[in-house]
Amino acid sequence: MSVESHWATLRQHAERLSQTTLRDLFAQNPKRFDELSANQDDLLFDYSREKIDQAVIADLLNLAQAAGVEQWREKLASGEKINNTESRAVLHMALRDGASANVQVDGEVVADKVHEVRERFLQFAESVRTGTYASADGQKFTDVVNLGIGGSDLGPVMATLALHPWHDGPRLHFVSNVDGAHIIDTLKPLNPASTLVIVASKTFTTAETMQNFGTALAWLKQSLGDQAGKHLAAVSTNLAATRSYQIDDSRVFGFWDWVGGRYSIWSAIGLPLAIAIGKVQFEAFLAGAKAMDEHFRSAPLAQNLPVLFALVGIWRRNLLNYPTVALIPYDQHLARFPAYVQQLDMESNGKSVTRTGQSIAQQTGPVIWGEPGTNAQHSFFQLIHQGSDVIPVDFMVAANPSSSADFADAQAHQDSLLTNVLAQAQALAFGRDEATVRADMQAAGLTPEQIDPLAAPRTFQGNRPSSMLIYRQLTPETLGRLVALFEHKVFVQGIIWNINSYDQWGVELGKKLANALLSFVQKRVVPNDIDSASAGALNHINQLRR
Ligand code: F6P
Repeated sequence: MSVESHWATLRQHAERLSQTTLRDLFAQNPKRFDELSANQDDLLFDYSREKIDQAVIADLLNLAQAAGVEQWREKLASGEKINNTESRAVLHMALRDGASANVQVDGEVVADKVHEVRERFLQFAESVRTGTYASADGQKFTDVVNLGIGGSDLGPVMATLALHPWHDGPRLHFVSNVDGAHIIDTLKPLNPASTLVIVASKTFTTAETMQNFGTALAWLKQSLGDQAGKHLAAVSTNLAATRSYQIDDSRVFGFWDWVGGRYSIWSAIGLPLAIAIGKVQFEAFLAGAKAMDEHFRSAPLAQNLPVLFALVGIWRRNLLNYPTVALIPYDQHLARFPAYVQQLDMESNGKSVTRTGQSIAQQTGPVIWGEPGTNAQHSFFQLIHQGSDVIPVDFMVAANPSSSADFADAQAHQDSLLTNVLAQAQALAFGRDEATVRADMQAAGLTPEQIDPLAAPRTFQGNRPSSMLIYRQLTPETLGRLVALFEHKVFVQGIIWNINSYDQWGVELGKKLANALLSFVQKRVVPNDIDSASAGALNHINQLRR
């Protein structure tokens, strides 16, 4: 059967299931949880609260097969240049030894390069942690500032927060925004004499990072003079550029064009994380991702977590037409996980043309957004429960607290967290119908006159889909598996939509236009040939400027 005929079958399923509710589906089949959930080790993916059944899953799996997911997975793992618009291989799996052994790119064995650089940057991280690599005046670095943006920031930021209980190295700070407030507020309380600055940029041309680097270098030079260079390290694929800034090669850690920025946390871009948690825990993080790679590459599609996760997303996006997904970790340490997944998913699959440049007839990557629970419950969950749009939710939660060892109440807090996430998923799926709401109010002693105006606002339609990821504990190893799970989900969806998930041309135009505008903003001049909206804004800004 062709891909198109699988889509047609799936549309029929969507029509069939639109006649029913999650309440009905659970009543008809008490085995939904067993049938519509899968595990990789302790990590459970429960999609039983989706508007889905086994027949739908079977046809989604057929679609995945017809789209060539298995063949493309092989191409990915074996280093084929699947990023066709940039003619690059896509080998983030090789960074954690999860790609095929002996993969070569342009005649070079990838694993050899990976191991050499990994050894170097992990050793450097250890030397900063122990003080073997010390400041210009011989003291142990107390603070490390990472300058980078996008993939050169979000991964280390997300993972450093996620692994806070393992953070026993120097304090870490991250500066990404070109807004001077970010770097000024960060540097102000720090002592340059004990601060190491890492400049992280794949290209080493990104305007924000280069401007922040200039400011940080001036700050270092002001107190350290020509010793400032000792307080600099860099991570980049552009070694010519790092040399032109006179950053000593011994503190420059490379990576390669076959690592996408948003897939680079496993490379030397992870240096700040390695400084925070140390070599052993960083290796555990890599090992977790490798375990997910092995699962992704070997588990049958019907039990394959990334594949199932991707297919549930396809069902929501293309068959039920939901444009967004709320990603809600019930895990404060994952507070930046939604932001990380936003870049991973939206920069990868936010595309409208196929890999050969034809328009795509259907919808592609959804808008991903989210905040940690339970906070989210007290802000936007009103809309998720009763708003006019259906917003599917991906919940994440650990069975155990991550910091129980040093905090007596940790278990009690975790009980509350677990209770809340389960309650929210129940409320979304099953709601509370008006008859029950009325009966409850009557039992509480309200009169029919009091009940009438309150019954509708207190009614929950339910029938709102959610999935849940449950893991034993948020350890470095688990975090590695979770991130790799999301990476592979994005890959599978990209294959089904027939897009190149590994380029990002959509961010280029804005950069070009900003370059063209810079001198006008600096000189406070409004060019004659500019559009009237920009002219109006520039005039207004110029009037307000001091
Ligand atoms: O502008 C988008 C982008 O290219 C991202 O893909 C990337 O992660 C980020 O900018 C930072 O790029 P670099 O690491 O080259 O500074």
